[in-house]
Amino acid sequence: MRKTALITGASSGIGYELTKVFAKNGYNLVLVSRNAEKLKIISEEIKKRHDIQVKVIPKDLCKSPAPQELYDEVAADGINIEVLVNNAGIGTYGKFTDSILSVINTCAYNYFMLLCVHEKNNDFRC
Ligand SMILES: NC(=O)c1ccc[n+]([C@@H]2O[C@H](COP(=O)([O-])OP(=O)(O)OC[C@H]3O[C@@H](n4cnc5c(N)ncnc54)[C@H](OP(=O)(O)O)[C@@H]3O)[C@@H](O)[C@H]2O)c1
Repeated sequence: MRKTALITGASSGIGYELTKVFAKNGYNLVLVSRNAEKLKIISEEIKKRHDIQVKVIPKDLCKSPAPQELYDEVAADGINIEVLVNNAGIGTYGKFTDSILSVINTCAYNYFMLLCVHEKNNDFRC
């Protein structure tokens, strides 16, 4: 049976490249980012090349219930996630003291929560 990888930030950059690597290695995929249209295009492109299942879940992981919603949606479909690529993120420039701490705090917390939800499901302590 194929394993499944959930990749956040799959619509560009490192996440997109890893999406292609996991697809090439025969993993089913759950792809997450905010841009639904981009995810759909990537999903179609991947499915044309590989005989795997691809589910896209457009989600803003900076919004507070997002990790739980994501978990619920995946669980409702009976999908077991073997690999979590917790990659979604943003880069910032400038002095740390001038940085957008509110964005960093909110997003970092949610990315961490996603990890917790995943690890809890896999009997890990968090
Ligand atoms: N590239 C580097 O040199 C470097 C160095 C150190 C660390 N990193 C980290 O590595 C990760 C990927 O970097 P990258 O260069 O590949 O970045 P990127 O090309 O900007 O890709 C970021 C991905 O995250 C998604 N994303 C951003 N905010 C999101 C949100 N709130 N909710 C859901 N998805 C979100 C974006 O898609 P949408 O816009 O569609 O949501 C996109 O798919 C980031 O976490 C970055 O901080 C990168």
